[in-house]
Amino acid sequence: MMFKQLLSFAFFAGAAFSRNATFKLISFGSKAQLQIVDGNIYDLSLLNDDILYGTTVSDAPEGSFKYYYIIDGKKESFKRTFKKGDTSTHNEFFGRKDTLKELKTFKRPENFKTWDRTIGKTELFDDSYIPTIHITGSKAKKFFKNPVKYEDSKLEKVTFYLRDSVETFTNVSSSAKNYEFSKFQIKMKLGKNSQGTKGFNGRYVLKLRNGGEDPINLRQVIYGNIIRELGMPALHSVMCRVYYEKKPAGFYTLQETVPTESFVNTEFYGNPKTGVASPPKKIGYIFDGTTGSDFEYKKNDEDYYSVFDMTSDDQSYDRLIAFTKAIKNLNPFNEKELASFEKKWFDIDTFHKAMAMEYLTGDWDGYWYTTANFAIYDDPNESTKNTYKFYFITQDHDETFGVGLDDDINTVGHKFPEISYTTMLNRTWHIAEDDAKYRTLVDKFIASTPSLHKRFQDTLFAIVKNIFNPVAFRDVVDSYYDRYEPEVKWDYSFTRPYVVKDQYPDYGYKDFVDGFEGEIEGVDWSLYEWVKLRSEAIKKEFCITWEGDANPPKETCVPKVQF
Ligand SMILES: *[C@@H]1O[C@H](CO)[C@@H](O)[C@H](O)[C@H]1NC(C)=O
Ligand SMILES: *[C@@H]1O[C@H](CO)[C@@H](O)[C@H](O)[C@H]1NC(C)=O
Ligand SMILES: *[C@@H]1O[C@H](CO)[C@@H](O)[C@H](O)[C@H]1NC(C)=O
Ligand SMILES: *[C@@H]1O[C@H](CO)[C@@H](O)[C@H](O)[C@H]1NC(C)=O
Repeated sequence: MMFKQLLSFAFFAGAAFSRNATFKLISFGSKAQLQIVDGNIYDLSLLNDDILYGTTVSDAPEGSFKYYYIIDGKKESFKRTFKKGDTSTHNEFFGRKDTLKELKTFKRPENFKTWDRTIGKTELFDDSYIPTIHITGSKAKKFFKNPVKYEDSKLEKVTFYLRDSVETFTNVSSSAKNYEFSKFQIKMKLGKNSQGTKGFNGRYVLKLRNGGEDPINLRQVIYGNIIRELGMPALHSVMCRVYYEKKPAGFYTLQETVPTESFVNTEFYGNPKTGVASPPKKIGYIFDGTTGSDFEYKKNDEDYYSVFDMTSDDQSYDRLIAFTKAIKNLNPFNEKELASFEKKWFDIDTFHKAMAMEYLTGDWDGYWYTTANFAIYDDPNESTKNTYKFYFITQDHDETFGVGLDDDINTVGHKFPEISYTTMLNRTWHIAEDDAKYRTLVDKFIASTPSLHKRFQDTLFAIVKNIFNPVAFRDVVDSYYDRYEPEVKWDYSFTRPYVVKDQYPDYGYKDFVDGFEGEIEGVDWSLYEWVKLRSEAIKKEFCITWEGDANPPKETCVPKVQF
């Protein structure tokens, strides 16, 4: 009855209905419909053999109009807007009000160089959108139910729904990790896409990560977004929904994997304007620095270097050893020698940025605290026959902002964020299991001369003033909360395919909400408290301040270190 009325209304008002409008909707139901408010109702049909529905209507209202979707009789509880002049929606998701919503961005300090060698976010890492990944096939079913038994699987079909496009990959090599948590992690190697090239713009090794110990599960994303803004080689991430066989699996962080050709090709040899990567025929060596990896010169001691995992078969330690020898021989007091070293051997600028971030976030699973979780890469384009230009790249940022700071690393309890970085220079370590004795890069490129030390400080202070303070940080991260809160609610609304009964910690929706500034079990600081304590301590020590600082240092304040 209602339907008929609407139809006749459409006839009657025919003259005003005169443009084409295309609708695309991701849905797991079986009957999908579109209702134009004060207009017609339309059936959507499947656009692929999966979960994308759509239609093009030829009688859409001329101006801006409202609409909503109906799945199996269930209406969306809000109205969407189709703007005047638009011809199509993006790939919309049933029940998600904002298909696109820009997150606020961290402010790059003015004098910081940008990193222009990356292909950039591209559509894959466009975080104004929340992609959906749908994994199907009988292997997927087994893999998701029992990731321990089917740890390595060739998944039949993985479909990525991005903002405007859809890509399907078949026979995807996948492995499961961290299955002490129900929401285990997945690494995928994608093959060829519909254009016959690898992955997305050459990015083909991707992880679906979860921060099981991070109550808000956003630390990796926040860290990654900051370091990209700082101008350094940095992994990209985006939050996405993952489903298998039309069933929910979780709200994950889709992320690049640093020690891979996939990352180096697209992060060092990319053109952000075109999204195209043009790596040299033979790229350099990528070393994965696992716990204990440091840079002392040990002439014939391959054992010392063996904690640097090699990532390809034709690799050796020769260049790494040559690098450590060059570090040892460098006299950092000689400005000319230092400048030449920076050009030929090591990018100190991006290294300083990386160390500032490790210190600020208490990134205890990184290089400075435990000589872990970083990669180094030598770029053949900037190398010569006898010199190899290395870059330091940080990775794996879930154990940050206070997460996982156990007794061996933290001997002062809640006061940990107040510890000065100056206590971390020129010291012997071996503080945890297997970390190295020294921090050769820190001692040589930060502590060795007043000039390098000041340079590092300037970098650190610039980050605190622009990003890592309670005002600026909160302003950006609040927008993450707003955007992701409904997704997290969804994430905790179903039983996962694989259930670990006694996982610890076992966070839920409430921990996400409290994790920003409340009390949470298992972490001694909320996210905002961590940033506040760390930045306030630096303020007190060095008399710096930031925009909107409610409690700036007194005029009589004297910096603890002066040059
Ligand atoms: C709408 O699409 C149809 C089919 O592609 C086309 O023939 C028609 O010209 C389009 N109408 C407008 C107003 O663009
Ligand atoms: C995927 O693997 C199956 C079985 O190993 C094989 O039959 C099929 O041809 C493969 N498909 C593609 C697209 O490589
Ligand atoms: C690196 O060198 C190759 C040639 O070996 C060149 O095609 C490419 O453009 C260079 N890339 C950069 C970033 O300089
Ligand atoms: C670190 O040690 C070097 C070499 O002994 C010394 O020159 C430098 O001043 C020290 N740096 C700091 C910050 O103590």
